[in-house]
Formats: sequence, C-alpha cells, structure tokens
Amino acid sequence: MNFERHILCIGAGYVGGPTMAVIANKCPQYKVTVVDINPDRIARWNSDELPIYEPGLEEIVKARRGKNLFFSTDVEKGIQECEIIFVSVNTPTKNFGAGAGMAADLQYWDKTARQIRECARSDKIIVEKSTLPVKTAQAMKRILTCEDNGIRFDVLSNPEFLAEGTAIRDLENPDRVLIGSSQTPNGLRARDVLVEIYANWVPRDRIITSNIWSSELSKLVANAFLAQRISSINSISALCEKADADIQEVARAVGTDSRVGSCFLNASVGFGGSCFKKDILNLVYLCRYYDLKEVADYWEGVIRINDYQKERFILKMLDALFNTLADKKVCLFGFAFKANTGDTRESPAIFVARRLLEERARVVITDPKALQNAMIDMEGESGDISYVEDPYAACEGCSAIAVMTEWQTYAGLDYERIYRSMVKPAFIFDGRNILDHQRLFEVGFNVFPVGKPGLTHF
Ligand code: NAD
Ligand code: UGA
Repeated sequence: MNFERHILCIGAGYVGGPTMAVIANKCPQYKVTVVDINPDRIARWNSDELPIYEPGLEEIVKARRGKNLFFSTDVEKGIQECEIIFVSVNTPTKNFGAGAGMAADLQYWDKTARQIRECARSDKIIVEKSTLPVKTAQAMKRILTCEDNGIRFDVLSNPEFLAEGTAIRDLENPDRVLIGSSQTPNGLRARDVLVEIYANWVPRDRIITSNIWSSELSKLVANAFLAQRISSINSISALCEKADADIQEVARAVGTDSRVGSCFLNASVGFGGSCFKKDILNLVYLCRYYDLKEVADYWEGVIRINDYQKERFILKMLDALFNTLADKKVCLFGFAFKANTGDTRESPAIFVARRLLEERARVVITDPKALQNAMIDMEGESGDISYVEDPYAACEGCSAIAVMTEWQTYAGLDYERIYRSMVKPAFIFDGRNILDHQRLFEVGFNVFPVGKPGLTHF
C-alpha cells in the first residue's frame, strides 16, 4: 500500500505507544512506526500483553498493528524511511553531576539527536514530544546541523498533555494540541504539516500554535499549575483536620466559583506519577539558572507540601495505632500512582510502604494492575512484604488498611466481611477519600480520612 506519510516515533513508552496508536487509528492513510532501544518493550508491543495498561489501548493496537502501525527495534531503518520523527524518549531528573536531583537528564535526548543526524538521508521534521527544558529545540537543531550534509531539519515543539488512565480519551479528544515552531518560512511550513496531521481528528480551533520557547515552557507550567492545585488543597486538608472542617465541603465551596473551577481539588495522600515532581524540579532549576530565586522558591513549595502530606499520612497512622507499628500487618489498597493505570512511578504508595517497613510493620500490597511494578519497586527493601491479588485475602489478619489508589473497586467491597477477618481494633486510613466513612465507622472500623476529623470508637 502507498501511504501518504511515513511517521516515526522514537521511544515506545507511556507517551509514544498510545500517541502513535491513536494517530494510526485516526489516519489509516499514514504509516506509523514506533521504535525503541528496549527489545523487551518492543516484543511486548508486538504481543497480546502490551507493556502498559491503558483503557481502550489494546483494542486500537490490535486493530492497527501490522496494517499501518508497526513496532520495531530498528531505529536506523525507521529514521531513513520517515519524513516526520516524533521523539518521546524519557527525560528523567538527573541524578549525577551538576543539577543532580533537579535538572532534566538529557542524555537519551542527546543520543537520539545524534542518531537522527547520522542515519538521515533526506529532510526531516523533528517533533519534540518529550517534556524538555526551554531552549532544548535550539540544542537539538545545533546537534542536527553541525555537519553540513545537505539535509534540512526543522524542529517543532509539540508537548503531550495526556494523563495516564485516560490517555486514549485525552488523545482522541484533547482540550488543545500545542505546536511551537520557529517563525521562519521553513519553521512555519513544518508547523503546517503537523497541524494537518492533527486536523484529521482535532477541530482546528483546538490546535494552538506559538513560538517554540513558549511551547516548551507551557508544558512545564501546565504541570506545575496542576500540581500546585493539589498541594494547595492538601495544605488546607491539614488545617481541616485540626479545625473540624471537611476538605470535600471546602473544595466544593471554593471550586464552584467558576473562576477557580472544580478540577484537581481532590485532597489525597499526595500526588505521584513520573512527571509532576520532575517537571516542577526542572522549572525550579531553570528559575535558579536565570537567578530568579523567589520564583524558584515559590514553585519548590509545591513539592515541599507534597512531601509533607505523605509524611503526615504515615505519622497519623503511627499515632492512631498507639505509636507502634512493629509487627502489625498493614494492607495497602492500591500501589499505582492513580487509578486505571499499572504505572507506579513516584507513587505515594512507594513512600508509604518504605516508611511502614522502617517502622517494622508487615506490609501487604494489593492492586488490580500494578502488582508486578510494585514488586520491582520494592525489590531489595528489607522487611516483611507480601503481594496479594485478592483484596479480601490481603486484609486477613491486618490491623489497618491504607487506601493508596482511588480504584473504584475498593469503594464496593464487603467491609463487614473484611472487618471480621482483621485484628481488632481495626483501622482504615483513606488516603483518597473514596470510601463511605460513616458506614465503615458503623461496621466497627476506626476511620481516618484525609482532611476530615477521624471517626474513632475510643
Ligand atoms: P517511558 O520511560 O515510558 O518511555 C520512554 C522510552 O524511550 C523507553 O521505552 C526507552 O527505552 C526509550 N528510549 C530511550 N532512549 C532511546 C533511544 N536513544 N532510542 C530509542 N528509544 C529510546 O517515558 P514516558 O512516560 O513515555 O515519557 C516520555 C516523555 O514524555 C517524558 O519526557 C515525559 O516527561 C513526557 N510525558 C509523559 C507523560 C506520561 O503520562 N507518562 C505525559 C506527557 C508527557
Ligand atoms: C499529569 C497531567 O495531568 C497531564 O496533563 C500531563 O500530560 C502528565 O502529568 C505528564 O506530563 O506526565 P498524570 O500524572 O498521568 O498526568 O495524572 P494526573 O491525573 O495528573 O494525576 C497525577 C497525580 O495527582 C496522581 O497521583 C493523582 O492521584 C493525583 N491527584 C490528581 C490528586 O491527588 N488530586 C487530584 O485532584 C488530582
């Protein structure tokens, strides 16, 4: 078959896989190839068991794979055959050298740019899909054009705003698609090619264009604003617990003001996920680099409150369980950083599990999709940890349950049955406020929500 365009994506992760699956599904006239240096990941994309869980993803991949969607480890061939390259390699926080613990580690990005330069035999449009520090496009352009081999490279910024657990929905129906380009005739021509691709299914008025630096920066700022809302509500949750107020009532009262809006005001044990912390740290690093100390301190506060919220959760457990957790069995309901994903990166559950082990508690972990990742995360931790798929079996003989992930299934369990199987007095710490607290109290539990006074029998 003759395809209208050949699109390549380098990096077959949480962004590259779903994004390309949706493009292939919406645009059968394009050939879409996704490459990765990790052969296991590619083998799983080509198997019945995809490497990531995302509602709706499997159906699309199965419908398009082998037709116009291909997964491969042959990066070189992929680069040679395509005209547009999306780069969605990982950009984690640097953990060595200058900027360690703050700046973005750009080594995967840098290697990709060099490989594109070495393998390319024709002009290419390079699309930054990964989240990057502002001015990365300039660095990429310099790497790509440092040898004059007669090939044109146009670099665009097209940050991804999908959230895990709703990735397919977000990609199919995005609030906006942002495309940053240089304002030169070539830059604008490249931008228009990308606009045309998205216009296959995204209404034109939702495709926003901007200069390239605004686009790169907007991605960091969007994540910082979202995380800031969670830290704002979580900071108030601490006050609610002292002042006998109810954080859900406060959030509703505040969020119904249309200027504030109601999204992202769910108090919790803290935000997780691979990006909020890393992107805010990256923003803070940029501000410090430009000598904007006050701005850096302001945004760093979002992370400080998140750390405080996780630690507060543990201290509340310790306090409620009579200041000792040693030898007590505690069941974690959920390990994923949010519902509807198997992803556990930066999950608050990792912090809580480690702190429980430090207190010598015996930790039982249950999760519908993330048990495998939980085992990897907890590998090498010393202490008594077990992994149990069935939540009823997981609670047997436990003194406490701590809800870590807002999986809906936990709201519908038979808590009378669970209560009977637990050590008394039995405790529930609802780190997501998804359970019926009054009902649990009536069953016999001592209940500790986030941002509301506890309900105790003594
Ligand atoms: P990921 O770790 O799941 O996937 C990245 C993939 O890139 C890995 O499979 C890795 O093997 C591959 N890779 C690294 N170097 C390579 C190279 N030189 N050649 C080929 N493949 C290479 O990461 P992710 O979650 O998909 O995130 C990717 C980027 O997108 C990050 O910058 C992240 O900040 C951003 N982002 C992520 C999300 C999300 O929900 N996870 C959402 C929006 C933006
Ligand atoms: C987030 C952003 O929502 C995406 O727009 C962005 O593309 C992505 O980061 C990224 O750059 O990686 P994601 O981390 O997948 O997406 O999930 P979110 O829904 O934002 O949740 C992040 C964390 O905040 C989760 O731990 C979630 O449970 C928590 N959260 C969210 C709360 O504690 N309270 C809320 O009200 C909302």
